[in-house]
Amino acid sequence: GTVVLAYSGGLDTSCILVWLKEQGYNVIAYLANIGQDEDFEAARKKAESLGAKKVFIEDLRSQFVEDFIWPAVQANAVYEDRYPLGTAVARPCIAHRQVEIARREGAQFVSHGATGKGNDQIRFELTCYALYPEVKIIAPWRIPEFYNRFRGRTDLMEYAQKHGIPVPVTPRAPWSMDANLMHISYESGILENPKSHAPADLYLMTKNPEDSPNEPDVLEIEFKNGVPVRVTNVKESTSKDTPLDIFSYLNEIGGKHGVGRIDIVENRFIGMKSRGIYETPGGTVLLKAHLDIETFTMDKEVRRIKQGLGIRFSELVYNGFWDSPECDFVRHCIAKSQENVEGKVQLSVFKGQVYILGRESSKSLYNEELVSMDVQGDYDPCDASGFIRINAVRLREHHRLQGFSGTK
Ligand code: ARG
Ligand code: SIN
Repeated sequence: GTVVLAYSGGLDTSCILVWLKEQGYNVIAYLANIGQDEDFEAARKKAESLGAKKVFIEDLRSQFVEDFIWPAVQANAVYEDRYPLGTAVARPCIAHRQVEIARREGAQFVSHGATGKGNDQIRFELTCYALYPEVKIIAPWRIPEFYNRFRGRTDLMEYAQKHGIPVPVTPRAPWSMDANLMHISYESGILENPKSHAPADLYLMTKNPEDSPNEPDVLEIEFKNGVPVRVTNVKESTSKDTPLDIFSYLNEIGGKHGVGRIDIVENRFIGMKSRGIYETPGGTVLLKAHLDIETFTMDKEVRRIKQGLGIRFSELVYNGFWDSPECDFVRHCIAKSQENVEGKVQLSVFKGQVYILGRESSKSLYNEELVSMDVQGDYDPCDASGFIRINAVRLREHHRLQGFSGTK
């Protein structure tokens, strides 16, 4: 049979490629460019030299931003109050194209290098099963013949040497990384001890705020439908207006000022806790800006419901249910809520922080006259007396009952 392997160019998936070939499969190597730092042409040559029948290198960067990062921005997506989901949103993006290729090439199998303990295996496979129900999945890290043979990195190195797989020359970082346009994640290795601090040189996307510039960058971000359509550097009078350029520029500015670093222990879907370190510079700037323009333009009660949907969306995406009916439903509701989320937010980025400076919008629900301390507006202060007394009815009853039961 033919298998489409999600290939990274690294040691693990190179060994998997050769191993699949050994098991008798025709291997198609598929490498998604979602903004990771990679020599894609070198990876193509490598896959070819390892015996891949075909190699597909797909530039998914714009699609990743527009179809996956933007919905996360609209949702204010954050898992367990802190993790902006950089790996989780990338998985369905990668898997969608993988399935497309598998169908087009008539491949019955897909394969990936995710471990048997993680979230990524679930995310890849749920999407593959949803979009290609007949597909057969080969997850080598869950196949005893594979994982018993490759018990550690030395086994992989030895196998690589024997099979002409180029072995990495640079010493490997003592942790595992997952990089894309949205973030870099770091986990395992020396980071597995939750008490151990991340070394200062771990972070690749963001400067240490202690060493960041002593002058802020001031940005104006313009939103339409709850997504950015333009970012302007106010002092430099330069601006970007395509999704990929906007997001890349926010990464650059956020990174320069050390924005978006987190170190957390999170709950994996599979049931265990894991320690992860993340840097999401552009995503963090956008989250702050979007929260601001959203509250400015959205009805209070709509916002309360939408906030709950954002949490549900984040959990669904984290757990790999991007292509589920419930996630589709939630995405549509959230998109509907964003119809009037437009306008401009001015902010400064400085020493690891995003400071909101001001906002303006033609769709604003803010009524300067109504809220003013100096103007009466269309509002009668006397009405507030009744409003407060009616709200006090329930409170009074509660305390009356407490008085009778003698707890005080
Ligand atoms: N814990 C994060 C998540 O589940 C990051 C996973 C990183 N994946 C990786 N293959 N290194 O989204
Ligand atoms: C992996 O298993 O490949 C990384 C960890 C995860 O998916 O959560």
